Amino acid sequence: MIKITIIPGDGIGKEVMNAATYVLDSLELNLDYIFASAGYECFEKTGSTIPDETINLTKKTSATLFGAVTTVPGHKSAILSLRKELDLYANIRPVKSYPGVNSLFQDLDFVIIRENSEGLYSGLEEYTDEGAVAKRVITRRASERISKFAFDYAQKTGRKKVTAVHKANVLKKTDGVFKDSFYKVGEEYPDLEKEDFYVDATAMYFLTKPHIFDVLVTTNLFGDILSDEGAGLVGGLGLIPSANIGDKQGLFEPVHGSAPRHAGKGTANPAAMMLSAVLMLDYLEEHDEARRMEKALIDVLDEGKVVTGDLGGTASTMEMAAEVRKKLESLS
Ligand code: IPM
Ligand code: MN
Repeated sequence: MIKITIIPGDGIGKEVMNAATYVLDSLELNLDYIFASAGYECFEKTGSTIPDETINLTKKTSATLFGAVTTVPGHKSAILSLRKELDLYANIRPVKSYPGVNSLFQDLDFVIIRENSEGLYSGLEEYTDEGAVAKRVITRRASERISKFAFDYAQKTGRKKVTAVHKANVLKKTDGVFKDSFYKVGEEYPDLEKEDFYVDATAMYFLTKPHIFDVLVTTNLFGDILSDEGAGLVGGLGLIPSANIGDKQGLFEPVHGSAPRHAGKGTANPAAMMLSAVLMLDYLEEHDEARRMEKALIDVLDEGKVVTGDLGGTASTMEMAAEVRKKLESLS
């Protein structure tokens, strides 16, 4: 029995979670889901966007699947609390184009590794007489551990190059630390190619020559921005999954949010949530089942018949899930 915490959250988070678990249920695995709440609706019921009970549960199970939450104004987002509480310091965001999906580029396959614990997400923001100030914290420890994570990831997955993305021409001290840490750690990986680009140039290269990228490693906010840009390259946010990884826990979530305006219609694209579940299966070392689920989804995308509106189809979220499950059951 593999115990999994399931946090559906709000809006389309709940809908895509239903779709993903519907597909997971037909795998040859003994998954035991334990549901927990977080987000806007949770706040309305309990007064907390992320109750201790939910945090404690995620610490006890083998992995967590997270849908999406709606932010409560004036309160820290539940996902940021989870990343912090569980020290999920690495955020893996694969940018991949799939056949059958209307993508700006074909054959794209790179991975953004976003530092997930500090930078402009340190929460050190305050009002001043003139306005407000946010502190961008960049430590050697976090920069070295995310660099090591990126190099190890590249090595493990057979990739060739790691690109550090920063703005050290302006943020000389903070991004100086980040860049130096990257090259220092990189010395231990002689077989991997290393390079670094400024973030503004990187944003342009995403549009002009994205095939040069393999693995990118960057600080928190740059990773946040570049991953949405990456989604735009390959068909939108409905297709980009993510893995939040720490030394003890893993939490898997689509890059998209709860999309309140689309919620309740049952038409959200479940692909990013399903791909997040695939990343979870790999994390759990269930590689065969991960490949089966991924292949089933890719086949459905490729056929393009039973897919949601954003993919050019007319299927509902659950109709697409049923199609993926049917495909999966036909793959031995
Ligand atoms: C993401 C999201 C979050 C972030 C928000 C919801 C706090 O945009 O996972 O990319 O900024 O990290
Ligand atoms: Mn984001």
